[in-house]
Amino acid sequence: MMRDPGVQAFLDAAEAALGAASGAGTPAARAGERVFARLRATVGAQGGGSGAAMLPVCGWIEAALETAEGGPRQGLADAFGALVERLEWKRRLSADPEDRAFWDGHANAMICGPGGMEQRDDLWIGATVMAPGVTYVDHDHPPEEVYLSLAPGEWWNADMDWTDPGARGVIYNPPGIRHAMRSGAGPFLALWFLPV
Ligand SMILES: [Fe+2]
Repeated sequence: MMRDPGVQAFLDAAEAALGAASGAGTPAARAGERVFARLRATVGAQGGGSGAAMLPVCGWIEAALETAEGGPRQGLADAFGALVERLEWKRRLSADPEDRAFWDGHANAMICGPGGMEQRDDLWIGATVMAPGVTYVDHDHPPEEVYLSLAPGEWWNADMDWTDPGARGVIYNPPGIRHAMRSGAGPFLALWFLPV
């Protein structure tokens, strides 16, 4: 099976960015290597979800991608930008409509994983966008997780104070740890990579 060329271009840029951001042998590097080794080994079926969909908060994506222009992740931002309108952007399943700031201020999209552009059950790769001034609810999940930011933002976990990894850094969350993230004065846009 052939991988969608847009997805492959994104994965190539993501693998390069993740490799550049994480030191050899670190947990982040090893988690990334697990994800990309699985992607090399097999190609999943295309279009596992119910089709492209946007939410109003997706209007922030363009401004977020502009913050990557001229920076070390411009190639990754461009490859991701080419996929944006083909993705199914959704709120977190457990999001509470009463919490307006979060309900209106965030969206997630799966690129490779259950319901993603490429259907997989061995990994999740996706994106989160948030409007300015929004904190993503604390959550945890069994798989470890690596984040790459495409726009300024901060991350927290139970072992780490709020941290901005910058345009060249990486955030690593060990399996099962409680974690969160938040935007500042501008929009937040980040990619996540989880070997499942
Ligand atoms: Fe997470």
